[in-house]
Amino acid sequence: MRISVTDRCNERCLYCLPHDVAIEWLPRGQILTYEEILRVARVATELGVTKFRITGGEPLVRKNLPEFIAELNRLPGVTDIGLSTNATLLPALAEPLRRAGVRKVNISLDSLQAERYREISGTGNLRDCLAGIDAAIAAGFPQVKLNAVMIKGKNDDEIFDLIEFAAGKRLPLRFIELMPVSTSEVLSDDNFISIGHVRQVIESKYELVPSAAKHGNGPALYYRANGLPIDLGFIGAMTNLHFCDNCNKVRLTADGKLRPCLGSHMEFDLKSVLRDPTKTDADLRRVFTETIRNKPEQHEFRDNYVPGRKMIAIGG
Ligand code: 5AD
Ligand code: SF4
Repeated sequence: MRISVTDRCNERCLYCLPHDVAIEWLPRGQILTYEEILRVARVATELGVTKFRITGGEPLVRKNLPEFIAELNRLPGVTDIGLSTNATLLPALAEPLRRAGVRKVNISLDSLQAERYREISGTGNLRDCLAGIDAAIAAGFPQVKLNAVMIKGKNDDEIFDLIEFAAGKRLPLRFIELMPVSTSEVLSDDNFISIGHVRQVIESKYELVPSAAKHGNGPALYYRANGLPIDLGFIGAMTNLHFCDNCNKVRLTADGKLRPCLGSHMEFDLKSVLRDPTKTDADLRRVFTETIRNKPEQHEFRDNYVPGRKMIAIGG
């Protein structure tokens, strides 16, 4: 289960928060409190959910995140807590988060060039992100992975630089295809590169052998690049027609909706149940079962999908 703890972010990546669109953050009262999220998580564990990932927006911009995660980690049945972050706030937070029980950290890194990093992330600073990556390594999380979203003409000439950087840090690196989550413009021929193309480029230099290692629960395909100490992952949400086959995710949005799929507008309202004093945990459980029963066979991104809510409100 992915839990978005905030829709806010200190960056505004092109594909997530298009720069020419004014952002309106959700009013605070609409965001679930930590107490409410913990109640949802407890009900989820009672129904068999064991693994959680904390997302945003940028989850680290929400106050007292380590304290919340420590509480989540205390729920019986929780076996694994991950975090998806742009890393810029990790220098101060990596250690407390590790102590709170975070085991896995996924870090977005789309460029190693300062100006480009700024251009893609809108407000971000490469130096902060790199310091965050080092802080994650120093804090000793059992798993740290890097994510690079590939954008044609923006960062596709950095494929080998990113690989060498990841290899130097001994961190698995995943290449991600653009998805029309917040804007469908990203799918234009000007921007979109298929993961197959990225693989071809890599194979001009490295032999790729399917990897035996299991790096996560997601739909990434992993390969060992000959001669490198790391695995490379490929997330082909648009071109891999079997992408959704093994998906067992459910998403809790920052404003308390349960979503069975990132690429479908379907969502089920938990917040009104949480905030209604006449409703009980049994009512929450019903919303869960209804959500899971309605989990679509696959996402709708290939069918002229019209983005509804921004990625940032859903939690990736
Ligand atoms: N397409 C592909 N990946 C995206 N991410 C955010 N928006 C998109 C999109 N439209 C990625 C971020 C981060 C992860 C949480 O999702 O770069 O690595
Ligand atoms: Fe922020 Fe992540 Fe969205 Fe970038 S992709 S704007 S870092 S939430």
